[in-house]
Amino acid sequence: MPDNEHLIELSVIVPTFNEHENVEPMIKSLEQALAGHRWEVIFVDDDSPDDTARRVRETAKRDPRVRIVQRINRRGLSSAAIEGFLASSAPYVAVIDGDLQHDEKLLPKMLETLKNEDLDIVSGSRYVEGGGLGDWQQSRATISRLATRLSRVVLHADLTDPMSGFFMMRRSSFEKVMRELSGIGFKILLDIFASAKEPLRYRELPYEFRSRQAGESKLDSQAAWEYFMLLLDKLIGHIIPVRFVTFTLVGGFGVIVHMLIVWLMLNYLNTDFTIAQTTATLVAMTTNYTMNNILTYRDMRLRGWAWLRGWFTFTLACSVGAMGNIGIASYIFAQDTTWVLASLSGIIVGAVWNYAVTSVYTWNKPRAPAT
Ligand code: GDD
Ligand code: MN
Repeated sequence: MPDNEHLIELSVIVPTFNEHENVEPMIKSLEQALAGHRWEVIFVDDDSPDDTARRVRETAKRDPRVRIVQRINRRGLSSAAIEGFLASSAPYVAVIDGDLQHDEKLLPKMLETLKNEDLDIVSGSRYVEGGGLGDWQQSRATISRLATRLSRVVLHADLTDPMSGFFMMRRSSFEKVMRELSGIGFKILLDIFASAKEPLRYRELPYEFRSRQAGESKLDSQAAWEYFMLLLDKLIGHIIPVRFVTFTLVGGFGVIVHMLIVWLMLNYLNTDFTIAQTTATLVAMTTNYTMNNILTYRDMRLRGWAWLRGWFTFTLACSVGAMGNIGIASYIFAQDTTWVLASLSGIIVGAVWNYAVTSVYTWNKPRAPAT
């Protein structure tokens, strides 16, 4: 049944970070692959320093099928893809990488399959017959297979390639899962399948992963860290925010740094205890701040002057947290309880305070809407 209700039948979402050389070839390849279809492409660019957004606008000015969403102070492939979905009104929405490694010629086949079969989503797979990894390095292939195996803990479907970032979905199906999505890291397809309350009706079509012609991959060790955060969010995120888990792990590391500094200053520098304790507190806070800015808040990382302002609000908030910690611990200890319980209560109160205050005042995390 032709759907004439929508001017645009298919939106193709392309998340980009530093892909300025790939913009024109990407638009050209979509034009060829989707000739005869009512399509648009929405680039979601995280304020790439290489001017990717300006390159897209050069074409968008002349061609209404080309659109851009430019995000400031926000990073992440998955969250970019989600914002692309939300910026579209088409009944079918696809996600494809912006470096031509995914085969755009599969898009018309995905659309036809979605239109003719009762499915929610069609994804490209490198592991079904006819698919392939191209000349992907062995190390990447091994990591991808390991990640695929790990994904089974949260995946309620027998997908052969949940790591694929290439798929097309019915908008109505996306709207059923969109509020459950974690939007963490790189793995949007896995996020969608793991967030769906009912099992998704899906089909996998083969594609050969191509080698990158221009630019470089953004998949780094921190993307691996975010992958674990995504799995953790799907497992326990409904009980405790995974950012709080990371924040506390970093805090634990800070305690080790603190102890080490006091020990070194007392035993090797013959420093007075109060000076050692104060130095250790400042160094531990700065280490915590730096690590939280790299790991816990990777997607809203502070840089330059914002880094310094962040350090100031973080140490200020944590100093108040430390005072709260000591106050609560002393009060509970005075009630004839064990020192372990008193100390732990102080640490927990301090950690919750530090997390709550710094998430708002240091990293300006948007507050949850009042329900
Ligand atoms: N907006 C935005 N923000 N886009 C990003 C970001 C980001 O933080 N990081 C990467 N991208 C864009 C890139 O610019 C590219 O268009 C696309 O996301 C994929 O990034 P690559 O860096 O090329 O990833 P890869 O080739 O190593 O891995 C890709 O292919 C794998 C196999 O399908 C990714 O899609 C993986 O998720 C996928 O598993
Ligand atoms: Mn790539």
